[in-house]
Amino acid sequence: MLPGQTAKRILVIGGGGRENALGWALARCSGVEQVWIAPGNGGTTALVGCQQLAIAEHDHAGLLAAAQHHQIDLVVVGPEAPLAAGLADTLRQAGLAVFGPGADGAQLEASKQWAKALMVAAGIPTARHWSASSLDEALAVLDAAAAPLVVKADGLAAGKGVTVAATVGETRAAIEELFSGRFGAAGSCVVLEDILEGPEVSVFALCDGKDMVLLPPAQDHKRIGEGDTGPNTGGMGAYAPAPLLDQAGLEQVRQLVLEPTVAALRARGIDYRGVIYAGLMLTAAGPKVIEFNCRFGDPECETLMPLLGPQLAEVLLACANGNLSVAPALSIHSGCSACVIAAAAGYPLQARSGDAIAITLPAADQAGQGALQLFHAGTTTSETGECLSAGGRVLAMVAQAPTFDAAFERAYEGLAQVHFDGMTYRRDIGHQVRTR
Ligand code: AMP
Ligand code: GLY
Repeated sequence: MLPGQTAKRILVIGGGGRENALGWALARCSGVEQVWIAPGNGGTTALVGCQQLAIAEHDHAGLLAAAQHHQIDLVVVGPEAPLAAGLADTLRQAGLAVFGPGADGAQLEASKQWAKALMVAAGIPTARHWSASSLDEALAVLDAAAAPLVVKADGLAAGKGVTVAATVGETRAAIEELFSGRFGAAGSCVVLEDILEGPEVSVFALCDGKDMVLLPPAQDHKRIGEGDTGPNTGGMGAYAPAPLLDQAGLEQVRQLVLEPTVAALRARGIDYRGVIYAGLMLTAAGPKVIEFNCRFGDPECETLMPLLGPQLAEVLLACANGNLSVAPALSIHSGCSACVIAAAAGYPLQARSGDAIAITLPAADQAGQGALQLFHAGTTTSETGECLSAGGRVLAMVAQAPTFDAAFERAYEGLAQVHFDGMTYRRDIGHQVRTR
């Protein structure tokens, strides 16, 4: 592919709200003719310019064949699991342009231990930590620390492998649970960390292996309950741009965290072409990395995509081709974006599914053609064509307006026009930036 060339035909891989938001945003970009989403979900076909392909994200051979059949110019891989499993490597080896790191770079997310070692070597601010590969070793760390610690499963545990313990006893219980085998291979090794304090913010860097473009910072809401209470979830809502980081703060994160990370990856021979998601805690001593992910956050992606300009496809293609310097500047709309997740009853434990979803939004809003977008996350289409809930996080309602108050009002009004049995959502998303 020639520098600066447009991606006319794009394949997005994944089946969540994140991938529908990516497909929706890419289909609106200059020069894009068609977007395919594999496997997509119950909302994919309703997105203008997007088609659904029934190919699982772990079916590397099937995805490669589809990309070749549809003469895809750019593949965008959404979730971490296929990246960690080397999907981007397989597609690149076949000559495709891929936005998403290879299995080497995906270790940033797939191995907390590896990521920690990289951070320490590169001097990137993060919590002090210890790794342990046996119960005795982990308990010895706890005895020496004599304070509650954060307990993390080393591998991918779908966001559920972390306990922020309030007491030493709770820390011990979390360590014992981890080595009990509940997390399978992800729990064969544990990372223990000092507990950091401060607000959390998500920063996304689109990387071409050397250079990067930063997106506006976003704030997620990880807890299931209003007032940020209860168990952790994948994320119950978000807003952007988060005023927690102004332009100078974002620049500091670039210099302290993201540029050293890309340099450290390069030093390890890793040509990282995809997004680096830095989950940061803004502590009294400055920003510190809580975790890296090798993909867009969900629901941050749904929140951010409507703020990005029509150059997004060209920017992602340039990242895939290792030549961001030839891409046009990515314009960012002014204004505020608000996202509220509608989840199924029981989430994040045992979520109920199979409930019919009724949507009475105006047609333009359902097609995402106004300042409101309804992205499907855990949904499916039944044999009779009915849209059914099929996951913990079911829908993402996103709205933009000049103020956060107005954006959240619009998103909540939108949610009032959606119903499925057992539907739950937090009414306080964006409490940090709302005045009413
Ligand atoms: P992670 O899966 O690493 O993102 O962790 C999930 C959540 O646990 C984070 O979003 C934080 O809220 C919390 N957490 C992780 N590490 C720490 C830490 N060192 N100190 C305080 N909270 C943490
Ligand atoms: N929103 C948090 C995540 O995607 O991991």
